[in-house]
Amino acid sequence: MKAAITSVAHYVPPTIYPNSWFEDKIETNDEWIRTRTGIRERRFSFEGGVTDLMLPAAKEVLEQRGLTPLDVDCIIVCTITGDRVFPSSAAILQRKLGAMNAWGFDLAAACSGFLYGLITASTMVESGAARRVLVCSGDKMSSILDFTDRATCVLFGDGAGAVLVEQSSDQSLGICDHILRMDGNGEPYLHQKAGGSLRPPTLETVANREHYVFQEGQSVFKSAVKGMADVSYEILERNGLTGDDVAWLVPHQANLRIIDATADRMGLTRDKVMVNIDRYGNTTAGTIPIALSELHRDRKLKKGDNVVLASFGAGFTWGAILIRWSIDS
Ligand code: UT7
Repeated sequence: MKAAITSVAHYVPPTIYPNSWFEDKIETNDEWIRTRTGIRERRFSFEGGVTDLMLPAAKEVLEQRGLTPLDVDCIIVCTITGDRVFPSSAAILQRKLGAMNAWGFDLAAACSGFLYGLITASTMVESGAARRVLVCSGDKMSSILDFTDRATCVLFGDGAGAVLVEQSSDQSLGICDHILRMDGNGEPYLHQKAGGSLRPPTLETVANREHYVFQEGQSVFKSAVKGMADVSYEILERNGLTGDDVAWLVPHQANLRIIDATADRMGLTRDKVMVNIDRYGNTTAGTIPIALSELHRDRKLKKGDNVVLASFGAGFTWGAILIRWSIDS
């Protein structure tokens, strides 16, 4: 039995912060940010938690399918910026949504969160362990950004997406294949220094600004270019596909240069690559479901289309998923 995404939606906060917003706060400029990353603006929400970003997307996903929150069997929240350390954001979202028949859990795979969550959900559906799994994936990066650190604060944004995963009504469509990878040797290059059990919060950790995103950009960049391109190429090759057979690449939006390298390796022309980094920056676990949702909303996905999702992020974690799109446009 094959599982499929049966509806998709997203939510981004309404307030736009253009690159110029940073110019009187840190030593940066619009040209540097645009040419090095592809970002022009991002959305931040300085109120509420990540579940407040996920709730509108979760409600819309259910509405699209004509279902109620009580129809959900399991909620997977993919995030690294949960509302609290505990209880899980899945439990908080369950209450806000009123999905009282669902169990659920949080999944922390940073930028690969959606890919990990989608495969977890599809495996549950395929095994018969659950009928309907709600995957909510996103981050409120503004809550862990150091707005005095120009190397990181300009890169990220807030936003979330949600999908419903159910049994595919047409077994030729749905989630066809996946390659998921992890290499814990990536920890030194991308992490949050304090706040966990290794280094609990103290006055000192706060004074040292250790509760923010730390990234060694160039090291991550090199690994990301290779990692994301490798798995995206491999998933095509082992399914006997070429770039010509792919309707859309929906990549993690961390840097336009990483996206371009992946598209080149797959032999894809740019009109088949979903890019919205210019408008939202890097929303971490949010980028791929937001991009997928925008494609669906704009009726650019057709039933039967081959869609490749690809990611790379902290851990390191990375992967690619091949989907044969199953929702009518
Ligand atoms: O989503 C999670 C995974 N993350 C990623 O995939 C991100 C991967 N890394 C990247 O995308 C890139 O490495 C960055 C966009 C983060 C940085 O671009 P880069 O081309 O690797 O720049 P760099 O770090 O080598 O810095 C080049 C210069 C440095 O100045 P010097 O040493 O050459 O004088 C930086 O200090 O740019 C400087 N710089 C800035 N200048 C203006 C760094 N940040 C800024 C800034 N504005 N915001």
